[in-house]
Amino acid sequence: MNLKQIRQDFPIFKKKFKGKPLVYFDNASTTFKPLSVIKAMDRYYLEYPVNAGRGEYDLAHYLETEIESSRKKVADFINAKPQEIVFTTGTTMGINLIAQSYAMHLLKPGDEIIITESEHAANVLPWYQVAEKTGAKVVIIDLDAQQRLTPDLLKIHLNKNTKIVSFASISNVLGTQTNVQALAKLAHTVGAIVIVDGAQSVPHRATDVQMQDIDFLVFSGHKMLGPTGIGVLYGKFQLLEKMKPFFTGGAMSLRFNKDHKVKYAPIPHVFEAGTQNWSGIIGLKAAIEYLEKVSFELIHSQEKKLKDYCLAGLKKIDHIKVYNPETDSAILAFNIVGVNPQDAATYFNSQGVAVRSGQHCARNLVDFLKTDGTVRWSAYFYNTIEEVDRFLDAAKKGRNFLDAYF
Ligand SMILES: Cc1ncc(COP(=O)(O)O)c(C=O)c1O
Repeated sequence: MNLKQIRQDFPIFKKKFKGKPLVYFDNASTTFKPLSVIKAMDRYYLEYPVNAGRGEYDLAHYLETEIESSRKKVADFINAKPQEIVFTTGTTMGINLIAQSYAMHLLKPGDEIIITESEHAANVLPWYQVAEKTGAKVVIIDLDAQQRLTPDLLKIHLNKNTKIVSFASISNVLGTQTNVQALAKLAHTVGAIVIVDGAQSVPHRATDVQMQDIDFLVFSGHKMLGPTGIGVLYGKFQLLEKMKPFFTGGAMSLRFNKDHKVKYAPIPHVFEAGTQNWSGIIGLKAAIEYLEKVSFELIHSQEKKLKDYCLAGLKKIDHIKVYNPETDSAILAFNIVGVNPQDAATYFNSQGVAVRSGQHCARNLVDFLKTDGTVRWSAYFYNTIEEVDRFLDAAKKGRNFLDAYF
């Protein structure tokens, strides 16, 4: 597939904003959707808009087959088994589910949960709650000078009390990638489990939960061309067996009576209470098929080309400070010196360029970056060098952005 073909698959690129095509560099927040994903979701509503797991009629059976085929697709995509795939609403729900169903009843006072200072709120706040309720302690590791969690750094903090090590495989602010396999190997030496927040890595890099020896992996469909409101929790089967269902209700129970006796549905259905996001699950399968068609080789090479070009351009602008020049992905955090990041993002918007500003939900990074906030540029494989040029043109004028406005 070439880039021109790829862009034709995304209806949003045909739209104009203020008379020009939108330049979208907020892909770490969410990505655009190709027509195949939109059509797959439409097909659910147009052709078999029923409930799964409850009906003895053909349409319900058909939907069930589609859902299990999507589960198999997700499993193959990350080299897991279908029964290890739990559908969630996204990364946030995935980590909360592990926190509530696993950690809440297995952790004790004195146990330790290791995270890093660059984690997204979704990988911080559930652990604060677990700590409050169980008496366990959250240990927040400061990154090294290269903005990374390395095995050497982890080794300093690991001990016999460490029960959970939870980190993002790619940081949503710094773009740095962790060596998941090495960190997992190390964590396992003290018997800790490893939770990988794959929100920023699964859409961009091939993931192999077996090779990387990941215990739990969570990610979101909407950051990988898929629908919003659908995500995945992968767990090694023997760990899913240790989890107590947190969401309870229909579909996750087979039988119950007035004596409070409950027979639960088997894993993974026991963690999928209530009516699920059927169209989202179907759309996620279409998103994975699209990513496979494009290939991670192309995704990676295109993102690297865009990032190298953008970084080189930003470095030439005196009034731009880049905070993560060592990034491993198409994520750059920067500021226009002397301009509040939110004002800068508003200015970029006036130039038809969408970027994110603020702390990007990673508030514990404020001290490390020595700034209250940054502007974040984040690209995906469908972005072009011409779009980066439009972004850089706006960045050049950004110092006197009020002049550029009026
Ligand atoms: C690293 C990381 N973790 C977790 C999340 C939360 O994802 P969601 O809002 O899809 O649950 C994000 C979203 O930006 C993220 O970048």
